[in-house]
Amino acid sequence: MSTPPSRPARTPVLSLRGVSKSFGAARALVDVDLDVHRHEVVAVVGDTGAGKSTLVGVLSGALAPESGTVEVDGRPVTLSDPATARGLGIAAVFQDLALCANLDVVENLFLGQEPVRGPLLDEVAMERESWRLLGQLAARVPSVRVPVSALSSGQRRSVAIARALLGEPRVILLDEPTASLGLTQVAEFLTLVERLRERGHAVLVTSHSLSDLQAVADRIVVLRLGRTNGEFDADRVTYEDLLAAVTGVAR
Ligand SMILES: Nc1ncnc2c1ncn2[C@@H]1O[C@H](COP(=O)(O)OP(=O)(O)O)[C@@H](O)[C@H]1O
Ligand SMILES: [Mg+2]
Repeated sequence: MSTPPSRPARTPVLSLRGVSKSFGAARALVDVDLDVHRHEVVAVVGDTGAGKSTLVGVLSGALAPESGTVEVDGRPVTLSDPATARGLGIAAVFQDLALCANLDVVENLFLGQEPVRGPLLDEVAMERESWRLLGQLAARVPSVRVPVSALSSGQRRSVAIARALLGEPRVILLDEPTASLGLTQVAEFLTLVERLRERGHAVLVTSHSLSDLQAVADRIVVLRLGRTNGEFDADRVTYEDLLAAVTGVAR
């Protein structure tokens, strides 16, 4: 295995210490430690069933861990539900994107979300904010008043991420965003993630592909059967090292 990367000395925006979560007999996460910093993209890579979605579930407040601590800016927090996580600046985009196909872009962005500031935003202000968020992602949509069903899958993903950006979260969690993408779409997605990093977000993104995220990740953390099984500098790790860590088969 290659040498583990040196960690930045700064306090992580988000850290997990000894986090475990089981579903009956299935030990989905076992004693997991993980840090994510501002301006950093951490890729969590692992086979199907490795615990990636459970990890995102715990960090987004959707699942309660049995043990371990989660810290935000070095302070222990209890992420009792997604609203609490969002309030602490943690936003998630799940694989199914959770968009309403019959509603337009603006409606999807603001559905069920508290206004960013002040009293209820009016339609014009919401449209302006929608364009601003999509612009941050360099996302191209024909109009913010078309139903989401009329958009391409890449555009839909941008809308889901733009919605996560409402309220300026510090941490963005993306669960398997590249799973159903073609090569061109993966490249577009990586550019979008670079944008998030440039803007100072801490990004945690999962994949079951060994190579999809390598170009954009700063660090790659491997999950295997719920445990961290290696942490690598994305610039230097080889495919063989990642494969060995993901499968547990020694080289
Ligand atoms: N809601 C659930 N009920 C029962 N078992 C679950 C549930 N969610 C996940 N698991 C189990 O936990 C393990 C990790 O699953 P998951 O986090 O979905 O992995 P991944 O996202 O890496 O494919 C698997 O063994 C899976 O079967
Ligand atoms: Mg999953």
